[in-house]
Amino acid sequence: MLSGVHVAVLGESEHLPEDLRRAFAGLVSVRHIRIKAREVVEIGTGTVVIIDADRAASFSPDDIENLVLNQIRPARPLIFVGQAKSRTPLAAHNLLRFGSFVFRPFSAASLLDIVQFLSSQPRADEPAPAAEDSPAWIVDEHALAMVAGEKALSTLFSFAKGQSRLKQPELIKAGDLLIGSLSEGGLNSWVRGVRQHHDRTYQHCLLVAGLAVGFGLKLGFRQSDLLLVAKGALLHDIGKARVPLDILDKPGELTEAESAMMRQHPAYGEQVLRLESGIEPEILRVVRSHHEALDGSGYPDGVGSERIDDLVRLTTIADIVAALIEKRPYKAPLSGEAAFEVLAAMQGKVDMPIVSALAPLGRLI
Ligand SMILES: [Fe+2]
Ligand SMILES: [Fe+2]
Repeated sequence: MLSGVHVAVLGESEHLPEDLRRAFAGLVSVRHIRIKAREVVEIGTGTVVIIDADRAASFSPDDIENLVLNQIRPARPLIFVGQAKSRTPLAAHNLLRFGSFVFRPFSAASLLDIVQFLSSQPRADEPAPAAEDSPAWIVDEHALAMVAGEKALSTLFSFAKGQSRLKQPELIKAGDLLIGSLSEGGLNSWVRGVRQHHDRTYQHCLLVAGLAVGFGLKLGFRQSDLLLVAKGALLHDIGKARVPLDILDKPGELTEAESAMMRQHPAYGEQVLRLESGIEPEILRVVRSHHEALDGSGYPDGVGSERIDDLVRLTTIADIVAALIEKRPYKAPLSGEAAFEVLAAMQGKVDMPIVSALAPLGRLI
């Protein structure tokens, strides 16, 4: 049980909806309250209130407003859970001024994250309703995946510097959230979201991970392979943690010695991951070989196509697309379509059937 985290679920149904029950089972104390219009509900301070918007469908927007402002005491923090395309009066935009909206189907991990986040927020005893123009925040799967990805990357990079242990559950969670959010078809908004990130290496890893998962989805990869894709892409440049910052961030051209050092990052990455048990061999190959080329002209080993598997090929393509569409001090970013044109000209180096299959995604990036 998570201490200090309490949830009250309000809805018209008699029983706690199955998805909410599963999300909180054994982790959070949940009170299920069957609400009726105009009925006052007493809820302890600090309890996160979830209103099941799909199961309060007979409520008018006025009823909900009354519920939120007058019937629930105290009125915050508040989460609405419901279908994104719900045509009930409880359309998400009506509700956002009162709290957050989490779309069904949600992942249990994401909902728990929001509940924990809201529980940890300081609150006034009798909070005022948000003003009409105050920025309502909507938590979506993208934002959660981004936060989880960032958190995983920060532990990964400190692990690679020898400062902490690798937290594999964190990596798996980030991978799961990433797959969940991109399954909704949000490649474009993922790319836009990642562009806001302040740290260039994290930005790059999150971008490669989003692209690789989006590509894997397009190619019909099964779930277990998608998770390998997500984890491999998040980890692919972990060896850069061992490359000095002045080389990583050098705006101009690298000297020969610097570039030799830079070209070691795939090998460093693999070495550091080999120190941990339980890292899948497919992931070790992605990390070591993502800069290899099918004609053997890549690095660090110069291996040819027979030793480069599909997961590596996909990650390499995601890595190249990411590099091309990223803004760098020395180059303007290319559009997704232009990036695929560059790839199409890399005959012999990258896997052309994969490139052609993914090319239509170029206009979404
Ligand atoms: Fe790399
Ligand atoms: Fe990379």
